Order: sequence, then structure tokens, then C-alpha cells
Amino acid sequence: MLLDRLLEEKSLRAPRGQGALHRVDGGLADELGGFYREQNGVVDLFNDYERDLSHLPPPHDFVAAVARQWGFDPGDDTQYAAIEGAIRATLLVPENSNLRAEVREFASRMKIPEPEGWPPTATAVTKAEHVAANPQIEVVRHYLPAALPACTREFYSFRIRNVGLGELSSTRTPPFRLSYHWTRAQGELRIFEGERATLPRDLAPGDEMTVMVPIATPAEPGEYVLQLRPLEEMLCWHEDQGGDYRVSIQPTVAHAFDDLSHDDAPFDIAEDIAAAERLVAQALPRRERRWRVLEIAGGAFPVSLSACAVAADVVSVDISFALCQLGALIAARRGLGRDHLQFLAADACSLPFAPGTFDALVICAALHHFPDPTALLACLRLLLAPDGVLVVVREPCNPNPFDVDYLRDIGLGINEQQWNLREYGRIFTEAGFRPERTLVRSRCSLSTWLRPAQAPHPERCGAESVGVAGR
Ligand SMILES: C[S@@+](CC[C@H](N)C(=O)[O-])C[C@H]1O[C@@H](n2cnc3c(N)ncnc32)[C@H](O)[C@@H]1O
Repeated sequence: MLLDRLLEEKSLRAPRGQGALHRVDGGLADELGGFYREQNGVVDLFNDYERDLSHLPPPHDFVAAVARQWGFDPGDDTQYAAIEGAIRATLLVPENSNLRAEVREFASRMKIPEPEGWPPTATAVTKAEHVAANPQIEVVRHYLPAALPACTREFYSFRIRNVGLGELSSTRTPPFRLSYHWTRAQGELRIFEGERATLPRDLAPGDEMTVMVPIATPAEPGEYVLQLRPLEEMLCWHEDQGGDYRVSIQPTVAHAFDDLSHDDAPFDIAEDIAAAERLVAQALPRRERRWRVLEIAGGAFPVSLSACAVAADVVSVDISFALCQLGALIAARRGLGRDHLQFLAADACSLPFAPGTFDALVICAALHHFPDPTALLACLRLLLAPDGVLVVVREPCNPNPFDVDYLRDIGLGINEQQWNLREYGRIFTEAGFRPERTLVRSRCSLSTWLRPAQAPHPERCGAESVGVAGR
């Protein structure tokens, strides 16, 4: 039991710097008396909520529906208690609106209506009083490479924050949009009317969102500046906001993935999942010492499930205690006890493990949920042994702002994002990883093995920001 061994070795510590952890009745305790519950073998280190749920009606029908859907027996007391506990945990939601949306997703991800009489699913999308009279944004993050090929059109992501007083909306009048101009490095304007990007949902004051902007590059190679700008359509451009980025336009530009193969088969989700499982199993072959694996955001179905049947001891971390609970039940039914797979509810952005604890890190269909993927990977890199491997599978790599699943999730407040291959290259390189082998399935699903790069500090490799003209 890897988690227990880590506890004994003192490689697993309390979150928020509260010292070592030790077992107490019903959970774990830290040195300052903090308590972390344990239910069905799942420890809850996220523990960021305090609400009394005893007034809520018992969710008998809902438990029965979950049990039916997943082939459990609601008449079995242990299974009933685990499912009910998992369901109640979806109501214990954290303050952070993005994490709240992730935790509350349980019911809809299970494709079962929520229990009657329970509070409705919180859409993290708070409604502001009024549309911004004077929109104000800041660009928080982008992954634009320093060099781009001429005469191409691709979506590039810019994460913006609404720093004004009103809501930003692309569906009200005048519609708020993002666009750009291209100037030569010396300042001469080359293209004024860039393509427009609309906000996939309204953006409340103080809120952040990643917007995919369709960028067409100039035909003529040379040194340029991309001026990203917000505008109110038919009214005005806000030339004092956005960002200016130096970009070298070249006839061709290689990307960061050396050993890249493509598979052009039509997208099939079951086959994509099966391929990801095969890839993880290949990355973690049988060897004398079992791999110590940390799966990030594993939900109820960690992709390393099959590897832990053979060669790996896995800790699967997810922010949702409910999904961890369900995952533990499902794994047990498949004959995978706690010996080789344990679930831990925690925020992957602040994991309480000692440096170098794991031989492998695995992340499936989840990197794009994190507001700052580079920061996440840079932190995770510290948990990895120097000769360890990072396996990233099933990440969307063909950005499409009109994708229905993307629009649904972002409407629920989930931090969905999509990046192109050049942007992924920059994210991995800046986090200190080097892609070793990469497969893009069906032109849209990225899977890659990466090694910690030699460089002790992440190297910058993106477009240099040169501020905003006129500010
Ligand atoms: C699209 S699901 C992928 C789940 C799983 N890897 C799979 O492929 O089925 C994204 C997962 O990320 C988890 N998640 C989101 N933010 C997280 C965070 N800060 N820490 C840990 N898990 C997080 C969600 O709870 C959710 O289970």
C-alpha cells in the first residue's frame, strides 16, 4: 500500500505546511490537530469545506441509480454507505469557483440527475449586475511561440482576466471580442483587422478565462509584433489593453516534438481510452522493483489501472472526494485492492509529497483543466525522481472553440482549455520536460512521454512580451 508506505517514510505530509501526518480513528491527523477523514480507504486531504449536510434528505433513489449504473448492490450496506458518502461529498464544495465546478461535476459526469431536494449544481458562472460600460482586461497568460510559420491560421490561447467593473459578454450589444493587429518590429502596420474571437461565456468582474484566438500569420517572413486587442464590435478597439508580442515569421518552423507520429483514424472515445491505457502500460513495463506512480486528476477511472495490475503501485489524486470514492469501489470490483492502487482527494496544485517520491507521473485528459499547466508541471517535476517519466495522455490538441463538450463544460464553470501542438511544446519545455515520444491520434488527441530536462531552470521559449503600445 503505497500511500501507507509514504506515510511511514514521512514522504506524505499534511497540506498547508501543518507537519507530519499520523493515523487516528477514521482518518489522519496533522501536528496541529487538523483532521483528514478517510472513507472507504480514500483519504481526503483537500478538506477545504465545512458544512453541515444533515438536513438534506437521504438520497435513496440517487444511490440506487448510481449503484445500478455502475453495477453495485444498493442492498449491500458497505456499498450503499460509500456511494451515499460520495454523493454527499459533492455538496461540500470549496470556495474557489473553478474547483467548486469540478467537484460538483460528479452527478452530471455520472449522467444521473441530482437528488431531489438537494441544492442545484452550482454553476460557477456568476452573473454580474451589468455589462461593462468600459471593458478592462489583463492578459494573464499565453503560450505564443517566439517563431511561427508564415501564411498559416491556427487558434492560440490567451488567458484574460476581467479587471473592470462590469461583465464582459460577446452576446450582448455591443459584443465584446478579442482580435489583433500585425505590425513590423519597427512599428509599421501590416494587418489591422485580425480575425475575431468571441468569449465562450460571459466573464464576471475578477473572473478569468482562456480564449482561443484564430491567428492568421503574415505571408511575408520577417520580424513582427502581434498586438492582441479587445474591441467592442462596431464601436471601438481598446488599443491601451491586451498585449504586444514579438514574433519571428519564418517560412517553416519545427515544433518541440521530435519523435512524433500521427494516426488519422476517425475519433472513437473507447479506442482513444484503450490506446491511452496501452501507452501507459508500455511506459511502465514489468521490472524488478514496482513503479511508484502518481496519477494526477485520475477521477473514478485512473488510466494507470491496468499498469497497477502488473507492475506499478499507484496513488491516484483527484480534487473530487466523490470520484475517488467511486474509483475505489470500481477498482475493488475489478479485483484491484488497496495493495496496488490507492485514491487520495487533494488539490494537485499543492501536493504534500516529498521531492523525488515518484518514478512516474501520469495525467489523462486533465492537464487542460488547470489554469496554469506550466506551473502545475513544474511543481510535479519536483516530485519525480531524476530518471523518472511523465506520461501525458488524451489531451485535446486541435483547438475548436465551437466544440459542444467544451462549451458545455465551460458553461458549468469548468476551466476547459485547448492548446495546439506548438503551445503544448512551450508548456512542456518551460516546465522543464523534454518530449521523448509522441502520438497524435485522430488529429486531436495528444499522448506523450516526457523526461525531466537537463536544465535546472525552465528555459523561456515563447514570444517575448513587449507591453502594450500606448501604455
Ligand atoms: C476530464 S476529467 C479526467 C478524469 C480522468 N483522468 C479520466 O480520464 O477519466 C478531469 C479531472 O480533473 C480533476 N481535477 C480538476 N482540478 C483538479 C485539481 N486542482 N486537483 C486535482 N484534480 C483536479 C476533476 O475532478 C476531474 O476528475
